[in-house]
Parts: sequence; structure tokens; C-alpha cells
Amino acid sequence: MIISVTSLKGGVGKSTISQNLAVCFAHMGYKTAIVDTDTNASSVHWSGLRDESLPEITVLGLTDSEALRKNIKKIHNDYDIIVIDGTPSISKLVSTILVLGDIVLIPIRPSGFDIWATEKFLGTYEQAKTLKDDMQAFFVVNEFNPRANLNNEIKDALKELDIDMMETTMRTRIAYGEASVLGLGAYEYKDMKAKEEATSLANEVLTVLKNL
Ligand SMILES: Nc1ncnc2c1ncn2[C@@H]1O[C@H](COP(=O)(O)OP(=O)(O)OP(=O)(O)O)[C@@H](O)[C@H]1O
Ligand SMILES: [Mg+2]
Repeated sequence: MIISVTSLKGGVGKSTISQNLAVCFAHMGYKTAIVDTDTNASSVHWSGLRDESLPEITVLGLTDSEALRKNIKKIHNDYDIIVIDGTPSISKLVSTILVLGDIVLIPIRPSGFDIWATEKFLGTYEQAKTLKDDMQAFFVVNEFNPRANLNNEIKDALKELDIDMMETTMRTRIAYGEASVLGLGAYEYKDMKAKEEATSLANEVLTVLKNL
């Protein structure tokens, strides 16, 4: 199964969500890999920080659209779950990432909501959908603050769009950044609420995948 995590906007939580999902899946016993498609290679670096005694996650860097398509096919049989950590920059690569995913997760951060980037992304998304009409795409609200009305308004506005939304929302938690610089996921860190959130998202993704 391939889980694509993508968006056209940088810094919305693609790598954080990719790493946290991969860690949950690895602890659940799935043979898990992350394919990092961003030239900043943050998940590749993260894997270098990861202690070898932890459940294993293979992390490969593939930043070229064709190389991604060909190599994913080769490694697909060797893993139960491959998480593609997306790039905000090149739309051909974004299209390939969208088409490869059995499920597509699109993190959005309400506080930095950028209509322009979302519209541009939706253009790429609609185009990719012509190649794959059964696209299973979901927004994942990241850095959600339930006390800010604006955030709730945006959440309502997103419901109007043709893309579903994951029920699990990720709050702003220092633990995500702290775990990441240690090569960990929240599942392996001390903040139980972050652990619960990450586990809940992983379970929700698995439920969608099992119902495909
Ligand atoms: N829910 C959260 N709570 C607190 N910090 C977060 C959360 N999600 C992401 N961050 C932090 O925000 C920053 C950007 O997140 P991340 O690197 O996951 O985004 P990205 O979409 O992969 O960015 P890029 O487009 O640059 O690859 C990181 O420092 C990360 O630790
Ligand atoms: Mg990233």
C-alpha cells in the first residue's frame, strides 16, 4: 500500500505526518518505508538520527518524477506500507506522487492558510484525477487550534470542497518537533496526547486502506 503525503505549500507538516505515520505502522508490525521526494531530504536526515534498536523504517530519497515511478514499482513488493513524503515545489513530481498513492493525505495548516497555494494545488489535483478517477484524497488539518474561530471557519470552508477530511486533526505540539530531531515519532516520545493523535491518524488511514 502506498500513502502519499503531499501539498503545494511548504512547511505544512508533510514530513512530520509521514514520519509519524511510518513510526506507528512500524510499531504495528508493518514492514515500512518512507520515500522522501523533497530535495531538502528531511526524512532522509531523520532516518540518520534514528536509533537502530527502534522498529526499522527504510528511508530512500527519490526526487525525480520518473525515478520515483520506476523505483516505487521495484520496492512495492518488499514493503507492506510505503509512505511518500512529498515536495512543495515541482508539479510534475506532485502529479506522480498523487497518482501513485492508494491514499493521498494533504496536510493543511489553518493558521497559515494560503488560498493561492491551495488553488494551485487543486489544479494539479484535478489534472492527476483525470489519470486516476478513484483518487482517495483527504485533507489532514495540522496545527489546529480549537480556540481560534478563524480555524473553525476554515474547517467549515474545507468541508465544501470535493476532498474529504480526516477526522483526526493534529494540534500544535512541541513534541512533534522534539521527537523529530531525535529520529523518533510521537508514538515513541513522552507526550501521550501527541502519541494518541499520531496513532489515531494511522488507524484512520488503515481503515480507509482496508476498505478500498
Ligand atoms: N502539529 C505540529 N505541532 C508543532 N510543530 C509542528 C507540527 N507539524 C509540523 N510542525 C513543525 O513545523 C515545521 C514544518 O513541518 P514539516 O517539516 O513537517 O513540514 P513540510 O510540509 O514537510 O515542510 P517542507 O515543505 O519544507 O518539506 C517543522 O519544524 C515541524 O516540526
Ligand atoms: Mg518536508
